[in-house]
This record gives sequence, C-alpha cells and structure tokens, in this order.
Amino acid sequence: MSQAFDVLVIGGGPGGYIAAIRAAQLGFKVACAESSSYDDPKGEPRLGGTCLNVGCIPSKALLASSEEFEKISHHAADHGIKVGSVSIDSNKMVARKDDIVTKMTSGIQFLFRKNKITLLKGHASFEGKGADGYQVKIDGKTKETVIAKNVIIATGSKARHLPGLSVDNVLVCDNEGALKFDSVPKKLGVIGAGVIGLELGSVWRRLGSEVTVLEALPTFLAACDQGIAKEALKLFTKQGLGINMGVKIGDVKVDKKGVAVNYTDSAGKAVKLECDRLIVSIGRVPNTDNLGLDKIGLKVDERGFIPIDDHTCATSAPGVYAVGDVVRGPMLAHKAEDEGVLVAEVIAGQKPHIDYNCIPWVIYTDPEIAWVGKTEQALKEAGIEYKAGQFPFAANGRALGIGRADGFIKILADAKTDEVLGVHIIGPNASDLIAEAAVAMEFKAAAEDIARICHPHPSLSEVMREAALATDQRALNM
Ligand code: FAD
Ligand code: NAI
Repeated sequence: MSQAFDVLVIGGGPGGYIAAIRAAQLGFKVACAESSSYDDPKGEPRLGGTCLNVGCIPSKALLASSEEFEKISHHAADHGIKVGSVSIDSNKMVARKDDIVTKMTSGIQFLFRKNKITLLKGHASFEGKGADGYQVKIDGKTKETVIAKNVIIATGSKARHLPGLSVDNVLVCDNEGALKFDSVPKKLGVIGAGVIGLELGSVWRRLGSEVTVLEALPTFLAACDQGIAKEALKLFTKQGLGINMGVKIGDVKVDKKGVAVNYTDSAGKAVKLECDRLIVSIGRVPNTDNLGLDKIGLKVDERGFIPIDDHTCATSAPGVYAVGDVVRGPMLAHKAEDEGVLVAEVIAGQKPHIDYNCIPWVIYTDPEIAWVGKTEQALKEAGIEYKAGQFPFAANGRALGIGRADGFIKILADAKTDEVLGVHIIGPNASDLIAEAAVAMEFKAAAEDIARICHPHPSLSEVMREAALATDQRALNM
C-alpha cells in the first residue's frame, strides 16, 4: 500500500525543509522529497537546497576566507603587525567550505529525524488526485507513489544561462562552478553585476584575480537606494573590480586556453575580454522541471513562476501550496523560510501574515550593503513626502577602531508621521545592523523611537541611532 501523509513537501531547501519542520511541530504526518545530490560523495540526495549546498552558505564561507586573506595581506600592517609573504591554498579553502556545507546539510537530516519527518529520496512529480489526496510519484533509486492531503511545492530556482553558451562549470561557470575553482584565475570575467557577480567577483578579486564585470543595464544596482549604489560603485572600483555598465554581450568563444567574450561597451565600441574563467550570473529562473503540474490542473505564469494567493501561498489546486524561489517575490532564503512557516500554519488553520515590505536584503560585499523598506527613488515615484537622515561610519569610534570606516546609514522617515519607511546601509556588519531596522519597521516605529533607544557604546549600532537623529537634523556627533 502507498505511504500516506498529511503534508508532502517537494524540495528540501530553506522553503521546503522549514515548512516540513513547522508542519511536524503542528502535529502533521510529514514527508519531504529531495532529488539533488549536489556533490554528495555517495550520490545521495542532500537536504538544504541551493542555499546550503551551492548558494548562501558556501558563498559566505569563501567570502570569509578571502576577507581573512585580504586582511592579513593588506591591513595587518595598519595594526603594526608584520607578516611574511602570504599565499592562498585554494583547495584547502574550498575543502573548508565543503566541510561547513556538510555540517549544515547533515544538521537538517538530524532535524528531520528529531521531528519524525520522512525523507523521500528522488524526484517528485504529480500523477493526479484521488479521494485520499494527491498522488505523487517519487523517482529515485527506488520508485514509489505516495499520497498526500496537502502538498507544498518548494522546488526553488536554477541559474539562468545565456542562450547558446553552455556552462561546463569549469571554464564557463554558474554559481555551482564558481564556488569550487581549484586555483585562483589570473583573469576572471563576470557577466551580470548583480548579487552573485559582486559577491563572487569580490572573493576572487581579493585572492588576486583581475576581475572584469560586464553588466547590461546602465544603472548600477538598480534595485538599491541609488545613494548607496553610487557609494558602492565608487568603493568597489577603488578596490579594483572592473565594472562596465551598459554593455551588450555578443558571441563568447571557449577553447582550452580560456574564454573570449566579445561585447559592445556603453559607447557602442566593440571590445574583446579574454579571461581564464567566466562566471555567468544573470539571474535565476523558477524550477518546475517535470513536476507534472498539468496533472493537477496547474500552469506557470509567463516567467515560469507558480501563481499563488499573495496572503496564503495557496495555488488554485485545493491543498497545494508553493513557497520560496518558485513563486513571486525576492529570491532570498529568509523569505522562503518565512513562507514555509506561513503555509504550515495556514494548513493548520492559523492566520499567519508576512509583511513583504519588511524583508531585509543583504549583499555580502565589503563593505556589506543591506536595506529594508522603500528606497528614496521609490518614495519619490510614489509621491510620498519623506525626510532623510544619514550618518557616516567615519564618525563612529568603533568603526575606526576596527578599521572599517567606509560607508553610512541612511534612514527615510515619513515627513508627517515620522514612521520609518526605509533603512539603507553600506558599511561594516550591515547584515547584522539591518535586523534592528527590520524590527523597527515591523513595529511601525518612528525615527524618533530609534533615536530615543539607548544603544551600546562603542558600537556600530550607534550609527543607526545617529542616522535616526539626523532625520530631524540633530545628530549628536556630527
Ligand atoms: P532551493 O534552495 O533552490 O531548494 C529547492 C530544492 O528543491 C532543491 O534542493 C532541489 O533539488 C529540490 N527539487 C527541485 N525540484 C524537485 C523535485 N521535483 N523533486 C524533489 N526535489 C526537487 N539568499 C539569501 O537570503 N542570502 C544569501 O546570502 C544568498 N546567497 C546566495 C548565493 C548564491 C550563489 C545563490 C545561487 C543564491 C543565494 N541566495 C541567498 C538565494 C537562496 O539560495 C534562495 O533564495 C533559496 O535557496 C531559495 O530556497 P527554496 O527552498 O525556495 O529553493
Ligand atoms: P541578479 O538578478 O542579482 O543580477 C543579475 C544581473 O545580471 C542584473 O544586474 C542584470 O541586469 C544582469 N544581466 C541580465 N542579463 C544580462 C546580460 N545578457 N548581459 C549582461 N548582464 C545581464 O542575479 P544573480 O546575481 O544571478 O543572483 C540571483 C539571485 O540569487 C539574486 O537575485 C538573489 O535573489 C539571490 N542571491 C542572493 C544573495 C544574497 O542575498 N546576498 C547572494 C546571491 C544570490
């Protein structure tokens, strides 16, 4: 007889595995299907999805290694520390990253056992619907069909590739290959100055690569507050990232020696970029490959996303939900997780809510960039009257002490009510500092609230308070 579940989750990434855990906490009988083995030595499906295996976690591990390398090579002397010649063993660095990934993914297996979640190893696809629920085929080393009353689709996304350019993940790489280079390329080309291009471009630049980034749009980091984007472009260019905006990629030739990218620059001039390796990071597309959506009457939208109800993540098939990168909204792990929790609670009859305006964004460059809420350009477009307060890290004792004084925090508050509408940071530890802003916005705080809250001294968080004071022209240390 087929195994039957109250909830079947398809995909073991941050959206899926968190949904499975929350559903199990709520007392449901839960299974989670996962098909990808990533680089598992035994070829077994691994939990954690893009984020843990080939995304957030490995990229941040490499960013940390390259930051250490840069600190020791270039900044130790500022502290009076003398070091001899510094070199990098990229294989060791990649092995460290792999260890972290293995620890994290096996941690989820432990959580599944703890919460009594059945792991179904293989590719899941809908076969149809019967009286007991949805029939879903699991195609792995063994094949079986399971029955589920509720199904949560959390199949994530995959890298978008350039038409006609095949990715071998050795010379031409998407995120998967770019996280496991066995040596530091002398010349690295990157197509796309988005989040992946800037983060991974920074890793290899710090380790010594000459990095050239080619971006189609004329505006740098168009989704960011443009005050922050301008500062970022200035700082990244100073660090040595070659960023070329407004280009049009032509043909790309690959041979044993490397890669040649022919493109037209923003002035219309034909240019050839020759590099040892190329990273293609031009966005990601939702993953609904062979999912059998048609068998249950579901269709994807024109961009490949599964349409859902904005409040409950329910699809038009009763009892079928979709979360994370496979649905609308930012492709972020914490957004996928929050939707996973929300759906499990919706199935349990609760009334959870996500405020998408309060989802923070972080780009893990150096300095980091982080924001939550509206940008200045969005407020202007919407005709909302606002006041801006900005404070630089250069006027903060802690930032000077740690030698990380580039950047600033900008707070945008409603001109009449003082409610915080957006917070934008470029600076050290922006990824942690933004959490205060997200909490403030979730509680509908005013800039005055942040300004009146006692912040520890000396700490980077004082810059947040000073920026809040600056919305009322009363910053104390400037
Ligand atoms: P995924 O994590 O993509 O998981 C989906 C899983 O479903 C996969 O494991 C897949 O194998 C499985 N699957 C698909 N189809 C089937 C099927 N039919 N049957 C069984 N299993 C199936 N986000 C951040 O918030 N912070 C970051 O720092 C960050 N860094 C990133 C760095 C890189 C290089 C990349 C590529 C992404 C990064 N992201 C980051 C984005 C983040 O990884 C995604 O938003 C997140 O993983 C989405 O979670 P998900 O559960 O929707 O999908
Ligand atoms: P992205 O959407 O961030 O950036 C892609 C860039 O490529 C854009 O600037 C786009 O204009 C450009 N582009 C598109 N087509 C092009 C072409 N033909 N030629 C030149 N440029 C072109 O996508 P990216 O960097 O691939 O990352 C995918 C997603 O993964 C992100 O949007 C984000 O959601 C997630 N991610 C999140 C991270 C984080 O939270 N820190 C880190 C890495 C990825």
